[in-house]
Amino acid sequence: MPELFEKAYNYTDSKQVKATGYYPYFLPANAEIGPRTVINDQKVIMLGSNNYMGLTGDPEIKQAAKDAIDKYGSGCTGSRFLNGTLDIHMELETKLAKFTNKDGALAFSTGYQGNLGVISAIAGKGDYIISDGLNHASIVDACRLSRAKTLTFGHNDMADLEKVLKSLPKDTGKLIVTDGVFSMEGDLANIPEIADLAETYSARIMIDDAHGIGYMGPKGNGTPAHFNVMDKVDLMVGTFSKSFASIGGFVSADEDIIEFLQHNARSLMFSASIPPASTATVLKALELIEKGDDKRKKLFHNAKLLKNGLDEAGFDTGESVTPIIPVKVRDRMKTFVYWKELFKAGVYTNPVPSPAVAVGEELMRTSLMANHEDQDILEAVQVFAAVGKAMQII
Ligand SMILES: Cc1ncc(COP(=O)(O)O)c(C=O)c1O
Repeated sequence: MPELFEKAYNYTDSKQVKATGYYPYFLPANAEIGPRTVINDQKVIMLGSNNYMGLTGDPEIKQAAKDAIDKYGSGCTGSRFLNGTLDIHMELETKLAKFTNKDGALAFSTGYQGNLGVISAIAGKGDYIISDGLNHASIVDACRLSRAKTLTFGHNDMADLEKVLKSLPKDTGKLIVTDGVFSMEGDLANIPEIADLAETYSARIMIDDAHGIGYMGPKGNGTPAHFNVMDKVDLMVGTFSKSFASIGGFVSADEDIIEFLQHNARSLMFSASIPPASTATVLKALELIEKGDDKRKKLFHNAKLLKNGLDEAGFDTGESVTPIIPVKVRDRMKTFVYWKELFKAGVYTNPVPSPAVAVGEELMRTSLMANHEDQDILEAVQVFAAVGKAMQII
């Protein structure tokens, strides 16, 4: 009889990396995750969080979370569909709909669940999903869960997208889905051209702006707002686990779509709702994001300072136009060694091996917060350059 656990017993990938002493995962933080923090008992400059607007330690946010626990308790003990809806969930949804210029919104307990619930409910048997080749794993999994046929197009390759759309039968449902800001390379989806193609080929558009909402667009209202095409996007998805300093996700769309999702998105209906403290955090974060022009300005200043510094030192930082800046290493083991040396020298980053990127495209992912000081960034660049030179990466 085949042994079910054989694949686990024979799994050696992580053990091999651990044996080299360069294993970079599951390290505990011992303090609040701000621009400088403590990870695995070591003080570091933090260039590896998604806390773009720097709000996780904001005193107003902390107070809002504490107040919500006092008022509502620690958890909702049920799904939104049944006993798990709070008045603050509904307030949040009304405000998110307005923020993203849609009729309605629906909050999920994670962004991952948002993608699973929305895509699997909207795209069914006989429909087509057309997905960017670099889309996030939660979109990939959502496509698998739906009964629609999924076709991928080359990353941001509009000619390829058109080729795929052209090949599809006319009278079928079609959903083009893409990240707004790509999470590893920090580049943007070409939403205006996607919108034109969607119109030509009668497709609907879903943008997962997990990494853009909060700082892209004039008020942080996302990458479609940045391109001034909010009304061309049918389904706008975001997460609360990055700029919104908490956990959860949402979709905003026309009223009929939201009504349908409320009663058909299984990851919403069969999973407990966002706890009170997290919901109150997101509400307060939304308020701070809406009036966060100074923070956004500082965040883009920080991104420019880091990218220019790394470019001048001789690194390849790809096509980034956001606070996510990749440093190309292009070798799997070298990426782990570089990560460890940077960490030892006091800079925390995220190593990105395949399959998160293509083989030969391995990189160190860096990302900034609005509350990094220039000194944090200049110091980090020095460390990157010194270690990079010693390892002959530059
Ligand atoms: C593009 C994208 N979508 C969705 C998610 C999932 O978000 P969450 O952490 O809220 O589950 C992520 C998380 O990294 C992401 O990068």
